[in-house]
Amino acid sequence: MADNWKEDRMRSPRRILITGGAGFIGSNFVHHWCSNYPNDRVIVLDALTYAGNRQNLTNLENQNNFRFVQGDICDRTLIDNLLQTENIDTIAHFAAESHVDRSILGPAAFVQTNIVGTFTLLEAFRQHWYNFTPIQQQQGLFLHVSTDEVYGSLNPEDPAFTETTPYSPNSPYSASKASSDHFARAYFHTYGVPTIITNCSNNYGPYHFPEKLIPLMCINMLLGKQLPVYGDGQNVRDWLYVIDHCRALDCVIHRGKPGETYNIGGNNEVKNLDLVRMLCKLMDELADNLPITPCEQLINFVKDRPGHDRRYAIDANKIKNELGWTPSVTVEQGLKRTVEWYLTHRHWWEPLLSEEYQAYYRKVYA
Ligand code: NAD
Ligand code: DAU
Repeated sequence: MADNWKEDRMRSPRRILITGGAGFIGSNFVHHWCSNYPNDRVIVLDALTYAGNRQNLTNLENQNNFRFVQGDICDRTLIDNLLQTENIDTIAHFAAESHVDRSILGPAAFVQTNIVGTFTLLEAFRQHWYNFTPIQQQQGLFLHVSTDEVYGSLNPEDPAFTETTPYSPNSPYSASKASSDHFARAYFHTYGVPTIITNCSNNYGPYHFPEKLIPLMCINMLLGKQLPVYGDGQNVRDWLYVIDHCRALDCVIHRGKPGETYNIGGNNEVKNLDLVRMLCKLMDELADNLPITPCEQLINFVKDRPGHDRRYAIDANKIKNELGWTPSVTVEQGLKRTVEWYLTHRHWWEPLLSEEYQAYYRKVYA
């Protein structure tokens, strides 16, 4: 590949396919992209599983340069058709089954979407990319959005994950993501398809589905329900505000080097119990008419998640030094904004507490 990739990929306008764009990070990314690059053509492909929500994109639906397509990333005919008719040059691939607890209850969907779905997209993009002009080949990119969980679990004294940390996935979710990362890497090395992999730490912020720790705690406090903390609550996660993740992916799309991996993290390691206590304090301060206060009374230690990784931490020096990205939001600012968002978006989260969600909740927390 010629070494003028940087300049060529800076060229706009882009025709970008965003898979999983109705989910948590995907929809934040779609908003980021549409407001920063109004001349780009944006196609969202999303199957609208339980985690996908078209409401997350409502204010974009009338824009001429935006199109929503409901469909499955495993559907090769649909993907081929979209890549050709929309003349796609960039794929930002978010679509996945993303929740560890669901992967323990039922791993098959994770194999299907995360492995088979990613493989299907890569194959379709490979065929499509071969027909590009040389300039289009320079601009084209397959961004594979992945997770720090592929690196496994750290002990308290271990250094943070770097891009060369060996893979050691411990859950069906992280095993499926690791597999898809390997395919994305292999398509660059074998076929020259310009892929980049990003491995990011735990995100939080608007549009986060209520099964994950932070939204679940916020909503349970608002409903006066118990706050289930797994095990001893001493597991550590490295939290990143979702908008900062979107900014990092933007840098990678415009300035990242094909064939590379970039770790993305917030440099915000927090123990789960400390995080829940921070949320309780914020909720006590910001919410009126809580059913039970102070919220800390609601904390309830429950049976641990099987195979629960003890600690994640990201060394994000590569993306900082090579692409100039650093997080812009501290964990204190980000948590406050997030609590405020759940307080003012009851109309968004209330309908998500469906019968399916209640059944899932009973299974995990019984
Ligand atoms: P999410 O579960 O909120 O959203 C996933 C989206 O993908 C949903 O809109 C869903 O409808 C869609 N989808 C699922 N299966 C599909 C299929 N077969 N075809 C088309 N669409 C399908 O997930 P998220 O938290 O936004 O995560 C997005 C990506 O980022 C995932 O690949 C995840 O592994 C990765 N990631 C997440 C985090 C995090 O903290 N949430 C951190 C690092 C990386
Ligand atoms: O690290 C990146 C990953 O972060 C992403 O790849 C995943 O898609 C995303 O779901 C997230 O995975 P986690 O398993 O870390 O996130 P979750 O919100 O499920 O849990 C965060 C921590 O909180 C974890 O240590 C388990 C704990 N927890 C979670 C829930 C839902 C609890 O103690 N109680 C809970 O009820």
